[in-house]
Amino acid sequence: PIKPIPLEKGADHTLALLTEGYLFISNRSRKFGSAVFQMRLLGQKVICMAGEEAAALFYDESKFRRKGAVPKRIQRSLFGEKAIQTLDDGEHKRRKALFMSLMSPAQLQSLNIYVTEEWRGAVREWEQQETVEFFKEAEHLMMRVACRFAGVPLKKEEVESRARDMGAMIDAFGGMGPRYWKGRTARDNSEEWIEKMVKGVRRGLLPAIPGTALFEMSWYTQPDGKKLPSRLAAVEILNIIRPIVAIGRYITFGAVAMHEHPETRSALSDGPPDFSTWFAQEVRRYYPFGPFTGARVRKDFIWKDYEFKKGTLVLLDLYGTNHHPDLWEEPEVFKPERFYGWSGSPFSFIPQGGGEYEMGHRCAGEWVTVEVMKASFDFIVRRLDYDVPAQNLQHSLVRMPSIPKSRFIIQNIRLID
Ligand code: HEM
Repeated sequence: PIKPIPLEKGADHTLALLTEGYLFISNRSRKFGSAVFQMRLLGQKVICMAGEEAAALFYDESKFRRKGAVPKRIQRSLFGEKAIQTLDDGEHKRRKALFMSLMSPAQLQSLNIYVTEEWRGAVREWEQQETVEFFKEAEHLMMRVACRFAGVPLKKEEVESRARDMGAMIDAFGGMGPRYWKGRTARDNSEEWIEKMVKGVRRGLLPAIPGTALFEMSWYTQPDGKKLPSRLAAVEILNIIRPIVAIGRYITFGAVAMHEHPETRSALSDGPPDFSTWFAQEVRRYYPFGPFTGARVRKDFIWKDYEFKKGTLVLLDLYGTNHHPDLWEEPEVFKPERFYGWSGSPFSFIPQGGGEYEMGHRCAGEWVTVEVMKASFDFIVRRLDYDVPAQNLQHSLVRMPSIPKSRFIIQNIRLID
């Protein structure tokens, strides 16, 4: 027997989603006592779901596709048009293999070196300043790292404005009005900047190093023998650079966690070697970043007596799954030790999506993220000395993406040699 999917009343819930943010889906799941419910977004019926089983369903590619799932407004600000996030099947697998080829152990090793070098350089400058806004500086620092990793030349005087553009694209996804438009302008600027480089590489005017995103995306040939259109190559190079800058948010949340839970700071310096992994995982679980991801039903199917009709947009609650009371003990407590002996699951811990890297849409940069976070936390704990003045470190669960209110101000910064 087919059961009706619980339906949230009302003509449209777009505004409610933007005003309730990260808790929108879990608030309603709780109200309905159901892992699945329906609502209306921008005029269309949408199914929302959360939890491990829902995630396993969502990443079953025979049931879902990405075509038509990412709204144009998000493509024009956050991801770029026609990018990997919108592809399916063979085309997606080929593009994904291209992305994953940039994440070789050798590349990750270089990345670790860039992170430590850039941290040292940044802190030398922070020492000259009275106060530092950690979040802004972390984005600048990550912009330098991202461009070195991607093989993209970045002049010293460009760092601030280019990093601001990456930050604006990220900051736009839950924004309306000026915050959204800043993201769109930032995307136009950034695509133009990188597209010029792609053209330069192709004309032999700009040297590029094999194995970097700039080289590989510029020279990649599709099965029809053609290269990616230069604008699309730029979009995909930005799909490496922008999310590396986004790690600055997790680093900021991690630094705040160390401040608010000083015992984690001691454990990072003197605790078991695995503690840094548990800490990075708990930062990614506990703090909000990606709220949900979406796909469309590929063909009609029935799941748990609910009917999923072809073409319906389905949102998987990432934040809600990472805080799901059936999956996590005391989910609202920050507790890195919970990852001690954690067996891992492709569907219960999904800050960067679930399933497999090669086959599905799980984040191509998850290892990069964890590596960069660990190297950064290690640097902060061992090499950085600073004071934290009184400030509001709360983060909102409504504003998407979230960040501590004060953006973490630090003072009296010293590099420990
Ligand atoms: C996809 C989150 C860092 C590259 C995704 C998805 C999420 C995500 C939620 C979509 C999963 C889905 O729709 O099923 C994050 C977060 C990051 C991060 C929170 C931390 C800052 C990175 C980094 C890179 C990266 C560092 C690259 C170096 C990508 C790419 C995709 C993706 C290329 C598209 C994969 C596909 O469609 O197959 N990420 N990501 N991300 N991410 Fe990340």
